[in-house]
Amino acid sequence: MGAMAILRLALVFSILTSFSLLAGSSPSPLTELQIVTAERRIDLTSHIVKVFLTLKVENIGEASASEVLLAYSPTEADRLAVVKAAASAGKKKKKSYLPLDVKPTDLPDGPNGTKYYLIHLLKPLGKGEAISLEVLYILTHSLEPFPVEISQSESQLVYYRDSAKILSPYPIKQQATFLKTPSSRVESFTRVVPTDRANTELKYGPYEEQPPFSYSPIIVHFENNKAFAVVEELVREIEISHWGSIQVTEHYKLVHAGARHKGAFSRVEYQSRPNSGVSSFKNLLAELPPRVHSVYYRDNIGNISSSRLRTNFKKSELLIEPRYPLFGGWKSTFVIGYGVPLEDFLFEAADGTRYLNYSFGCPLAETVVDKLTVKVVLPEGSKNPSAVVPFPVEQRTERKYSYLDVVGRTVVVLEKSNVVPEHNSPFQVYYQFSPIYMLAEPLMLTSVFFLFFMACVTYLHLDFSISKIKQT
Ligand SMILES: *[C@@H]1O[C@H](CO)[C@@H](O)[C@H](O)[C@H]1NC(C)=O
Ligand SMILES: *[C@@H]1O[C@H](CO)[C@@H](O)[C@H](O)[C@H]1NC(C)=O
Ligand SMILES: *[C@@H]1O[C@H](CO)[C@@H](O)[C@H](O)[C@H]1NC(C)=O
Repeated sequence: MGAMAILRLALVFSILTSFSLLAGSSPSPLTELQIVTAERRIDLTSHIVKVFLTLKVENIGEASASEVLLAYSPTEADRLAVVKAAASAGKKKKKSYLPLDVKPTDLPDGPNGTKYYLIHLLKPLGKGEAISLEVLYILTHSLEPFPVEISQSESQLVYYRDSAKILSPYPIKQQATFLKTPSSRVESFTRVVPTDRANTELKYGPYEEQPPFSYSPIIVHFENNKAFAVVEELVREIEISHWGSIQVTEHYKLVHAGARHKGAFSRVEYQSRPNSGVSSFKNLLAELPPRVHSVYYRDNIGNISSSRLRTNFKKSELLIEPRYPLFGGWKSTFVIGYGVPLEDFLFEAADGTRYLNYSFGCPLAETVVDKLTVKVVLPEGSKNPSAVVPFPVEQRTERKYSYLDVVGRTVVVLEKSNVVPEHNSPFQVYYQFSPIYMLAEPLMLTSVFFLFFMACVTYLHLDFSISKIKQT
């Protein structure tokens, strides 16, 4: 949290209150808040936009307030992948953070379609009291390449649109916004006095005494050659077998979502000039569990041997190198597979239920997944599965029949869209299992052999009888 503490930012909050703007439908109508200071830091150094917001919120009403609202424009709301909040206490190095619950609200939209998220405070804020909040929110698909097409020798330029003033249902007494660009090449930016630029930082503000819902659109046009790696679809299958290990198979549909490549691709130029294809990427790093084994990586042509695996006791890193470098608009479809030891990820809870504890999300660094499907294939005979995921996902179950299965396996299917590396947190799938089922496969095999043996015996026996009949 160190870096985050420095990079704090600000957004919008509100209270549930007497704001007539909320059309009298707010849940706790008698609270009134104001933001004393707000600082927003927008990190534009990758294609995933991270915004850190630091707010000091004060209760200026009579009633106590237990919630604070954050406001987002409708476009931002569609692109929000993560919203996290924490209450901070103490100063500088001694700062402590208490995570707070944040949820989208069902409050009616504010002016111009403003959407709200609700932060639940741990204890209500009394009259005249103030609280410091740290908010992190992450936006995907928010950098728009312009020009939309570039040749191999050109750098990639993008637009970022936002508001110089922080959108909030509360008045903000004092605020400032800082944008960090990947390089000092900034083609243009909107000025909203005071606006300053130094090297890779743009500063909007300070702005004093802004009324609720202040909004002043800005566009920043700057260079960004980071890998715009987007997985349009990722299906991860995690298969548990009590006999052996956990087998993970991941199907990727990867695209370079930056400015489209125009003209022909010259490998000679690409390899000889360091500035050729600066916005393309030729490899990606996947972080896998420490004790992986039987790792493979293949595309539709076959196994790719140029991938490199490095393992230590904390993690394994697989360097994935497609057959050609990816330029804007180019796609690559591939599969990664590996096994991990059962004892590292499968546990028994106190009540005897088993559970898988594995990482959700995509193992590729700095990658957005538009649609992620995680399938957990439970051993045959498992009952009452339930999944525990730290954020909302869609859940259902399926049945899968594989070789030698008698009753089929239950598959817990979890789906989530707009996934970023912050979603790589552990999730659990609990299920009941009776060890007797472990005998199912061997019993099946035994019975198959037994039946086969019986069939042979019967056949031979019949045969004999027929010859005997002939002889007589
Ligand atoms: C709503 O949109 C109109 C027209 O674009 C603009 O003039 C006005 O300032 C906006 N209001 C807010 C609260 O954003
Ligand atoms: C690719 O490698 C995996 C694991 O080493 C192996 O199981 C598979 O048969 C290989 N496939 C091809 C097409 O060579
Ligand atoms: C799951 O694993 C993580 C570490 O990877 C651990 O911190 C967490 O406590 C585990 N959760 C459960 C329920 O065992």
